[in-house]
Amino acid sequence: MTHHDPIIWVLNGPNLQALGRRLPDVYGNKTLSELTADWMAYGTALGVTVRAEQSNHEGQLIDWIHEARGSRGIILNAGAFTHYSVAIRDAVESIRPTPVVEVHLSNVHAREAFRSHSVLSAVCVGQITGFGDAVYPLAMRVLMGQW
Ligand code: DQA
Repeated sequence: MTHHDPIIWVLNGPNLQALGRRLPDVYGNKTLSELTADWMAYGTALGVTVRAEQSNHEGQLIDWIHEARGSRGIILNAGAFTHYSVAIRDAVESIRPTPVVEVHLSNVHAREAFRSHSVLSAVCVGQITGFGDAVYPLAMRVLMGQW
C-alpha cells in the first residue's frame, strides 16, 4: 500500500456500531470490527486503501463526506438518515463528481414502507440493498471498475 493507492471511504451511520448484536436476523452476525477487517482485506486485494468510519451523528457523517471529496468514492450506509436527512443528501450532491454508492444490508424495499424511500438515491450513483454484508464489497468493485 503506497500513498498512490486510491482511497475508498466506507461510512456507516447511526446504530451500525451495534452490528452483530442488533437484529441479527435482519443485519447478520458479524460485528462492525469484523466487517471492517473484511473491507480492509478486500480493499488490499483490489489495490485500494479503505478508510472506514462509523458515527451516530449526522454532522460527523457530513464532515466525512466533505473530507472524502476527490477520493475514488464513498460507500455510504446512512442507516435511518437515509430516509430523511436532506443535509446528508446535500453533502453527497456537493462533492460531485466524487461518486457515492448507497448501500443497505437489509432489503429496504421489503420492510416497513418508510424504509423504501431514500432521500439519498437521487444523488448517489446507485443503490445496493438486501445482500447482507456483500453489499460493501459489491460497491467497492463498482467504484474500482472491477467486477
Ligand atoms: C439500513 C436500513 C435502514 O432502514 C436502517 O435504519 C438501518 C440500516 C441497512 O443497512 O439495512 O439502520 O441502512
